[in-house]
Amino acid sequence: MEIRNKGVLVTGASRGLGLELARALVREGARVVMVARNARDLDDAVRVVKDDAASSGRGGEAHGLAFDVGDKEAVHRIAGAAAALVGEIEIVVHAASTLGPLPMPLLLDTECEDFERVLAVNLVGPFRLTKALAGPMVLRQRGLVLFISSDAAVSAYAGWGSYGISKAAQDHLARSLAAELDPVRFLAIDPGEMDTTMHADAMPEADRSTLARPADVAAKIVAIIQTVESIPNGSRLGLS
Ligand SMILES: NC(=O)c1ccc[n+]([C@@H]2O[C@H](COP(=O)([O-])OP(=O)(O)OC[C@H]3O[C@@H](n4cnc5c(N)ncnc54)[C@H](OP(=O)(O)O)[C@@H]3O)[C@@H](O)[C@H]2O)c1
Repeated sequence: MEIRNKGVLVTGASRGLGLELARALVREGARVVMVARNARDLDDAVRVVKDDAASSGRGGEAHGLAFDVGDKEAVHRIAGAAAALVGEIEIVVHAASTLGPLPMPLLLDTECEDFERVLAVNLVGPFRLTKALAGPMVLRQRGLVLFISSDAAVSAYAGWGSYGISKAAQDHLARSLAAELDPVRFLAIDPGEMDTTMHADAMPEADRSTLARPADVAAKIVAIIQTVESIPNGSRLGLS
């Protein structure tokens, strides 16, 4: 899929993988709308990406929208504002995610409200946002929605239950949407362990030198986007 001049929405884009993906896509000439909650962090991230865009000379753009993807009321505001900023959104990357309370409790110690919040951010929010953005994709029979998954979607680890369940359901959401809306493309991508805030929050004792750099993972995802037509719709891809 050609990236240049495409309208793209990346959630979770103020740091970590989302930021590096926004940066890499803008360098390819995409017009990217970046979403995260903290407006100040997001402004800083947009500035970094815009500086890159200026030096790449490919005409990419970056814009920030400070919203919570787990907030039902935010979804149509995100979709409307994104379309006003860059026109039709043809690529969506759902990278925003929460682990829930830290340290991560065992399932029977998890408050139901905390479980609901993990599902709201990691599953229901991406579902709502996809519904809000997929109409024009279906009409034009083109577009791509990427769900950033995790190893925890397929392997069960003590303490990772809420997060893993949300990611497993998100993988199946990608498959189900692919079955219903082909040729619009839906993929789940497990990025592997990366040196990010989320990883440090989950496993503060980890040896950071063993973790992938989010920029390297973002480069692999950009290559997947560029060749997405050759990948079976609804696939779950592992990058580690
Ligand atoms: N790091 C890893 O080792 C690893 C491994 C497997 C999968 N993943 C997945 O990779 C993706 C990126 O993770 P990361 O490690 O890059 O995380 P990160 O560094 O913690 O960044 C998370 C981003 O999401 C935003 N965010 C969090 N909650 C949000 C919400 N409710 N609404 C909107 N934005 C929200 C954060 O900004 P605000 O806090 O300002 O909202 C931030 O921009 C996630 O889907 C994660 O599950 C990561």
